[in-house]
Amino acid sequence: MTSYPQLWTSLLTAMGITSSWRLVKLLGFFIALVLSVQILVDRVTQSKHPAEPSPLPAEEYRVISPETYRYLLNQPSVCKDKKPFLVFMVPVAPLEAAAREAIRKTWGAPRQDTLTLFYVGLPEEGQRSRSQKELEEESRKHADIIQMNFQDSYQNLTIKTMMMMNWLATHCPNVSYAMKVDADIFVNVFYLMRRLGGSPRQGFITGSVIWDGKPRRDINSKWHVSEELYPEDSFPPYVSGAGYVFSADLAARISWASRFVRMIPLEDVYVGLCLRVLGVRPVYSRSLLFLRNLFQIQNLEYDRCTFNKLLIANGFNPSQLLHSWQDFSQGHSSC
Ligand SMILES: *[C@@H]1O[C@H](CO)[C@@H](O)[C@H](O)[C@H]1NC(C)=O
Ligand SMILES: *[C@@H]1O[C@H](CO)[C@@H](O)[C@H](O)[C@H]1NC(C)=O
Repeated sequence: MTSYPQLWTSLLTAMGITSSWRLVKLLGFFIALVLSVQILVDRVTQSKHPAEPSPLPAEEYRVISPETYRYLLNQPSVCKDKKPFLVFMVPVAPLEAAAREAIRKTWGAPRQDTLTLFYVGLPEEGQRSRSQKELEEESRKHADIIQMNFQDSYQNLTIKTMMMMNWLATHCPNVSYAMKVDADIFVNVFYLMRRLGGSPRQGFITGSVIWDGKPRRDINSKWHVSEELYPEDSFPPYVSGAGYVFSADLAARISWASRFVRMIPLEDVYVGLCLRVLGVRPVYSRSLLFLRNLFQIQNLEYDRCTFNKLLIANGFNPSQLLHSWQDFSQGHSSC
């Protein structure tokens, strides 16, 4: 029988490499070295994560807790009536009626397997009574608006996201998937439903993953986060808030995790921080052949056959969405 060192030696000799044992030993030494460095690195990166998160002080949790706010408009039985496979959850400002209308006529249009809902807060102070009346009218007509009584603002999007997670966990516990998606996004609902087919997953979240996010300390940045609010110098992996898909079980788990995570005004990073508490890693979605990111968060010019191979594209105003959808819905199958 040939032993491994002998095998190596004869192999190397056969390959024209003349020195023998020493080379084999050297190789073995290097393999051992690489392995131990790997183990060490793993240890260090693991120990950076706080093992036992501590709950927030009550007054801090109160700000993000959905229990602090009450529903002005709600659709509590939509999932009992319909049993969708996936719920599109769209955070949108109260005044953006045109964006809602475009979504209802395009990717958010009624289908057997999907349901589309819009989440709003309170209109701005000055326009409150008029726009509230219009919103109620729109809600009566479409039965797809959910409103809570916090001020609707960019800074409060984290509150809105936690409201959406809590809403899903409470009212649609039996759906398979949800997608949080902004109102200016083009969603290729045909490809999305094909990709999600098969047996539903658990603990799954996918989108455009940002691995190396860092807090902006520049006070003038739209994404400014103070050191006081977030002392760490990097963010855990998170999915871009433009659009991400998750298994519905995560809604209740993320809601639970928010008891341990201080509110920061970056809603997608905030969800990433909750995922870290849960030990859930977001997954990148790429095409098999070219490894292209299927969640395009940069703005893209509409092109039927390019869009046919993507899940989302960013930067669509209502008329652009209506216009490109008309072409896409009819023509995409010929790509
Ligand atoms: C979800 O499913 C469970 C068990 O099948 C059922 O008892 C419950 O009523 C369902 N909930 C909703 C909101 O459909
Ligand atoms: C967020 O909402 C709360 C509750 O309505 C409000 O007190 C606060 O001013 C809002 N913050 C911003 C920045 O709009």
